[in-house]
Amino acid sequence: MKMVKLGDHHITPYGLAPMAGVTDYPFRKLCYEYKAPFCFTEMINARAVIEENPKTLDMLPKPDEPRTAIQLFGSDYRIIYEAAKRIENLTFWIDINSACPVRKVMKTGSGAALLKEPQKLYDIAKVLKENISIPVSFKLRKTDNLLEVCLKLQEIGVDLVTIHGRTVQQGYSGKADWEFAYRIKEELSIPVFLSGDIFDVEAVAKALQMGFDGVLIARGARERPMIFEQLHAFFTEGKIKEYDDLEVIKMMRKHFQNMLDFYGEERGVRKYKAFGIAFSKNLKSSKYFRDRLKLVEKADQVFRLIDELELSIKERIKWK
Ligand SMILES: Cc1cc2nc3c(=O)[nH]c(=O)nc-3n(C[C@H](O)[C@H](O)[C@H](O)COP(=O)(O)O)c2cc1C
Repeated sequence: MKMVKLGDHHITPYGLAPMAGVTDYPFRKLCYEYKAPFCFTEMINARAVIEENPKTLDMLPKPDEPRTAIQLFGSDYRIIYEAAKRIENLTFWIDINSACPVRKVMKTGSGAALLKEPQKLYDIAKVLKENISIPVSFKLRKTDNLLEVCLKLQEIGVDLVTIHGRTVQQGYSGKADWEFAYRIKEELSIPVFLSGDIFDVEAVAKALQMGFDGVLIARGARERPMIFEQLHAFFTEGKIKEYDDLEVIKMMRKHFQNMLDFYGEERGVRKYKAFGIAFSKNLKSSKYFRDRLKLVEKADQVFRLIDELELSIKERIKWK
């Protein structure tokens, strides 16, 4: 496995993609427990960093996670510069979100809207490369002008780009266009990471074999953070490490505890619901768990639901 040179670091060519509402401290902690080589924060509003919004500051990496990269979003290079200055000592890598298709974000000129006004992207790239001492990357989507944009970002000195091969109109549906991303990769000399439809070990291996320098894993990790342990086993021992439904239960319990520790009971239970739903999606007889999870408010109720789900899995194994 070829490592990727990023500033003074050599990074493993796969890691956790930024996901708003998902890649918070407890989820990153879980991914590190499953041997993720690096993780991204959620996208973080540059203006809110400057305003020291407490919930935004909560999203920044903690001292016990030196391999967490920060993704910022914003549209004004002065604000991004100021936010980057404040956070550069907390991380080893800053990424600028130029991919988010959510209307609320694009309306402010941020996210994928930056691709429609590339001069703004270049201004952001310039101010960061001239003033920030750590590597800077951009996460981009499929657009007609993407090659031109990437060449210009490379000329400015940007260290890496990630391409999500879906258009804004596609959102997260349809297939990610790896061929499109690869045609751009072939024209660039800086590392190019691929994002989109990386759901298992085979997909990571295929993308690396195709020639991408690395990949970011998003929904595949949201559903099964164990993908990082599988990747570690695959790249170090050449083995596919299987896990069963009981391992998923163990992970669900561990993650809920991580969330309680970080957010306390009220926020922890509320925020866990989306995770519990994603984690249990592919477990047999789990509909009852999801239906009940939506309704509960207390931590002990969540633990009880996980216990019940575990019991039903054990029963099924016993009668198989
Ligand atoms: C719930 C969710 C939140 C996301 N939030 C972000 C984000 O904050 N920043 C970003 O650059 N991409 C974000 N993405 C996009 C992912 O990083 C990734 O590019 C996309 O999901 C494609 O990868 P996949 O097909 O493997 O899921 C998000 C995706 C999902 C599903």
